Amino acid sequence: MYKVFTNIKKLYTVADTDTYYKKGISMQEPKQIENAYLRIHKNKVVEYGTMQDLQMNEFEEVVDVTGKIVFPTFCDSHTHIVYAGTREQEFVYKIQGLTYQEIAAKGGGILNSAAALQNTSEKVLYQEALQRLQSMIARGTGAVEIKSGYGLTVESELKMLRVIAMLKESVEIPVKATFLGAHAIPSAYKNNRQAYIRLIIEEMLPNIAEEKLADYIDVFCDEGFFTAQETDLILEAGAKYGLKPKIHANELSNSGGVQVGVKYKAISVDHLEHTTEQELECLLHSDTVATLLPSTAFFLGLKYPDARRMIDKGLCVALASDYNPGSSPSGNMSFVISLACIQMHILPEEALTACTLNGAYAMEISHLGYGKLCPNGPANFVVTKPCQSLAAIPYHFGDNLIEQVWIEGKRLA
Ligand code: NIG
Ligand code: FE
Repeated sequence: MYKVFTNIKKLYTVADTDTYYKKGISMQEPKQIENAYLRIHKNKVVEYGTMQDLQMNEFEEVVDVTGKIVFPTFCDSHTHIVYAGTREQEFVYKIQGLTYQEIAAKGGGILNSAAALQNTSEKVLYQEALQRLQSMIARGTGAVEIKSGYGLTVESELKMLRVIAMLKESVEIPVKATFLGAHAIPSAYKNNRQAYIRLIIEEMLPNIAEEKLADYIDVFCDEGFFTAQETDLILEAGAKYGLKPKIHANELSNSGGVQVGVKYKAISVDHLEHTTEQELECLLHSDTVATLLPSTAFFLGLKYPDARRMIDKGLCVALASDYNPGSSPSGNMSFVISLACIQMHILPEEALTACTLNGAYAMEISHLGYGKLCPNGPANFVVTKPCQSLAAIPYHFGDNLIEQVWIEGKRLA
C-alpha cells in the first residue's frame, strides 16, 4: 500500500543516498524541502518533492501533516540500556557534593551496577531493557547502539551481550552491540589490574567472538579507569577478532584516549569533555567520529565538550544519549538536542545532522539509508506536532514535540 504524507511544513531528508556523513559547517545544511510531500511503500521511502510536483496515485492513503515537520528518526549511537536497578542513592550523594570519581572510588558507580546485574536474570534484564528501548522509540529513536560493561565477569558480560542479541531480534530498528568489558576494574582485581585485562583478552574476547555477540569493542579510557596503554592492549586484542573500536575517551581527564582510538581506526571516540587542539587535530586527520553526550555533562555537572570549536574546525560530530544508570538516566534525544543547542552553541540544524546522519555513520548504517530519507531507504521518520521551525525542538526543552514515529513504514507511536 502506498502512503503519501502531504503539506509537510518542512521535510528534512538530511542527505542524499551517497552521502554517509557531514563534517564541519556542512552540518548546518541538512537537505530540506519546504511545503513537501513524502511517499512511502511498505517499509521503504519511494520519493519526495514539493507539493506543486505531487501527482496523486489512485488508491493511495493520504496522511495530511499540515504545519508539521518531518525528519529521520534519531540514531542514538552510544547507550548502556541493559542494566539492573537504578542508582538514586548515588544521585543524592552527588547532590550532597561527592564527585563521580569519589563515588566510584567508594565502590559505587559502575561496580554498584555490576553487583546488581550479576544477581539479575537474563529474562529480567531483557524485559527492563526492552521497556527502555520501546520508550526511546516512542520519543523518536530509530537505531541504537548498546554496550555491555556492567557484567565484568566472563559469565555476566556474556549474559549482557546475549540480552542485547535478544533485543536485536525483538525490535524493528537496527541495534548494534558493543563489548565493554573494560568499563571498570572489579574490586577482586583492584591490586592486580593486569589479571583483569588478561581475563578480558584471553577469556571474554574469544567467547564473545565465538558466539558473534559484539559488533564493536569499547574501553573506558579515563582517569581512575583504564590508561591509554591498557586501552591500546585491549583494542589490539579486539582487532584480532575483527572488532572495531568505539571508545569512551577524555570524559574526566585528558586521557590519551583520542589518540589511541584513532590509532586503531575507531569508528568513534565518545565524550571528549577534556580535549585540546592536539586531540582536535588528530581527529581532523582521521575518519573517526567525535560523539558528544551532553546529557552526561548535564547530569554530572561536568564542563561541556567544546562542540562549537569541533564543528568549526571541520570534525564529524555526532550526538548521543549515553543512556545509563550512573551518568545519564535518560534516552530522550530531544533533550540532548536542547542541551547541544543551549549549552554547546550548536545550531538546531547541526544538532539534527549530528543526531541522525552522523549518529548512523557512528554505527556504520548510514550507507543503508538510516539517519536520512532517500529513495529506497528505510521509511523511518518522525512527524512533529505543529510548530514554527526545527528550533522548536530545542526551544521547548523537556517537552516532547514528536507526535508520530514511523518505523519501517508503520506508525509505532
Ligand atoms: O558513559 N563513562 C563510562 N560509562 C558511563 C557511565 C557508567 C556508569 O556510571 O554507570 C558513561 O558515562
Ligand atoms: Fe557511556
